[in-house]
Amino acid sequence: MRTQVAIIGAGPSGLLLSQLLNRAGIETVVLERQSRAYVLSRIRAGVLEQGTVDLLTRAGVGGRMAREGQPHSGCYLTHDQQMIRIDFAEACGAKVMVYGQTEVTRDLYEAQDALGSPHIHGVENVVLHDLDGPMPHVTYDHDGQNHRLECEFIAGCDGFHGVSRNSIPETLRREYEKVYPFGWLGVLSETPPLHEELIYANHPRGFALASMRNPMLSRYYIQVPLTDKVEDWSDEAFWAELKARIPADVAQGLVTGPSIEKSIAPLRSFVSEPMRYGALFLCGDAAHIVPPTGAKGLNLAVSDVHYLSKGLIAYYTENDSAGLEGYSTQALARIWQAMRFSWSVTTMMHRFPEHDAYDRQMQRVELTQLATNPVAQRLFAQNYTGLPY
Ligand code: FAD
Ligand code: DHB
Repeated sequence: MRTQVAIIGAGPSGLLLSQLLNRAGIETVVLERQSRAYVLSRIRAGVLEQGTVDLLTRAGVGGRMAREGQPHSGCYLTHDQQMIRIDFAEACGAKVMVYGQTEVTRDLYEAQDALGSPHIHGVENVVLHDLDGPMPHVTYDHDGQNHRLECEFIAGCDGFHGVSRNSIPETLRREYEKVYPFGWLGVLSETPPLHEELIYANHPRGFALASMRNPMLSRYYIQVPLTDKVEDWSDEAFWAELKARIPADVAQGLVTGPSIEKSIAPLRSFVSEPMRYGALFLCGDAAHIVPPTGAKGLNLAVSDVHYLSKGLIAYYTENDSAGLEGYSTQALARIWQAMRFSWSVTTMMHRFPEHDAYDRQMQRVELTQLATNPVAQRLFAQNYTGLPY
C-alpha cells in the first residue's frame, strides 16, 4: 500500500491531522493498535482552549461542539475555605469550552468516515523504516499478515507509549522529565455538576477538582498517593474525601451517585526534543506529557497538529518546505510555555510529601496574588485559555 502521509495512532492528534490533510486533498492512512470502541471509551480531557475550538471548527467538526459544549468564562481556585474566581473574560477577553475528549474523538471519526479516510485498527508490531533515507515506510501486522505501507512522511501520533519517539536514534534525542509523587483518582458520575464552573481546590488533605461534561454528567478528581489502587477507593470513600477538600458551603450541594468510571493517572512532565527526524514528525503525547492540572494535554496535541498540518499543506500545495523545517522549533516554543504553566499550577495546588511550612506559605502567597492582583489573574487567564499559535 502507498500513501502520502502515514499516521500512527488514532487519538485526537492522529484523527485531527488526518482530517485537516484530507480536506486539503492530501492522502493519509491511519494505523491504530486498539479497536475503535476502545479509543472512543477513553475518558480523558474535558477543557478546550479557544484555539482548539477554532481548529476543530475549521476541520469541519465544530457543529455538535457548538450545540452541546459549554463555554466557560471563568473558574475557581480554592484555598481551604476561600473561593478565588478567575474571570477569564475580564482578565484576557477569552473563554474555554467544556467538551469531552470522547466527544471530540467521536466527531472526528464521523467526519473521517464521511470522507472515506482509511483507518486500520488492531495493528500490531508497527515498525518505522528508512526515516532518513529515500524510501520511508511502515511495516505492521494485521489479521495475521505482515503489511508494508510506503509513504512520503510519517506522523507519530501514537501517544507516550507509542513506537514513534523511540524510532529516533537515542543519540539525537534529548529528554526532560519530572515525575510527581502522586496521582489523580478520577470519577465520572451521572449526577449534576457541583457548580456551574470548574473548581480547583488546594486543601490540607490534598488537591481536588470538580469538573463536568454536561448538566447530568460530572467529572471529579482527587490527589492520591501513587501507591493507591482504584480498588482501595469505594464510591462512598471517594465522595467523602472529595467533600472534605472543597469549601464547606459549596460542598454541601454535592450530589453523589454511583461512579460509571474510576481510574488513577500518575502525574508527569516530559518533553522529547527534537520533534522531527527525517520523514518522521512527532505530535501530541508522543513527544510530551503535562500533568493534567492546567488542562493542557489535549490542547497541546491540537496546537502541534496546527503547525504540522500547515507545514504539510504548504509543502504539497506550494512546494514550500519552510513550515516543515521549522515545525519542531515552533511547536516546542509553545510546548515549553504550557509545561511551565502546568508545572506551576500543579506545584501551587497539590500537597507534596516533601513540602514544609515554608513551601505552604509560598502556595498561600501565590493564591493570594491570584485573588487580589489583576496582573497575576491576567497571566493565569492567558495561559489557561491558551497562548496564541
Ligand atoms: P493519545 O490520545 O494517547 O493517542 C495515541 C493513540 O496511539 C492511541 O489511540 C494509542 O492506542 C495509539 N497507539 C499507541 N501505540 C501505538 C502503536 N505502536 N501502533 C499504533 N497505534 C498506537 N489532558 C487534559 O487536557 N485533561 C485531562 O484531564 C487529561 N486526563 C488524562 C488522563 C489520562 C489517563 C491520560 C493518559 C491522559 C490525560 N490527558 C488529559 C491528556 C490527553 O488526554 C492527551 O494529551 C491526549 O489524549 C493526547 O492525544 P494524542 O492523540 O497525542 O495521544
Ligand atoms: C478536566 C481535567 C483537567 O485536567 C482539568 O484541568 C480540567 C478538567 C476534566 O476532565 O474535566
